[in-house]
Amino acid sequence: MQKNIIPNQFSVSKNQRSQLNNHGSFLIWFTGLSGSGKSTIANALEKELHKMNIRTYLLDGDNVRKGLNSDLSFSPADRRENIRRIAEVSSLMIDGGLVVLSAFISPYKNDREFVKNTVKDENFIQIYVDTPLAVCKTRDPKGFYIKAEKGLIKNFTGISAPYETPENPDLKIDTTTTGISEAVKLIIQKIKPKLELI
Ligand code: ADX
Repeated sequence: MQKNIIPNQFSVSKNQRSQLNNHGSFLIWFTGLSGSGKSTIANALEKELHKMNIRTYLLDGDNVRKGLNSDLSFSPADRRENIRRIAEVSSLMIDGGLVVLSAFISPYKNDREFVKNTVKDENFIQIYVDTPLAVCKTRDPKGFYIKAEKGLIKNFTGISAPYETPENPDLKIDTTTTGISEAVKLIIQKIKPKLELI
């Protein structure tokens, strides 16, 4: 907790920004193994929302770790810090009136809980991209699983680091049985009430 900090109050509110955008703002949080399809689904969803005149921003682990979070490793503590920063950035973007899409492995239950508490329950939709590890390993789009199995990448989720399965996600998508466009439709159906202006 910071001492001697008193937040300023500004004149334009979240509500006014939402009125201008003509839709609500909230966070769609994708969690799942590397190679599960989080970024692919988030990308397809953002394209669709954009077509619907919805103002969005997509935060993605592989991209954010090149910039804002380039100082962080994959130790449990650094993953926590990775997710903490994204929770705070998402919170600002929600206040800014955007629909935020975040695609991070986010393997720890406590860290995902932290995100929900930071952005507030009513602004949080959790989507578990539940593609089996065996399938993610076969896809291995970046060749990381094979390296991790040889011990060339440490702390790799699913191989040498844990993934804690979400208990009550708002939606569970297994990309071996649900195609990308079907997944996008299911998500849009789910978020419809949150897009409405209150
Ligand atoms: S998280 O666990 O901290 O949420 P994040 O989503 O930001 O992970 O980054 C995951 C991406 O980093 C993976 O898709 C993969 O491309 C890459 N990566 C590199 N090293 C690891 C590792 N040890 N464990 C998992 N992913 C890794």
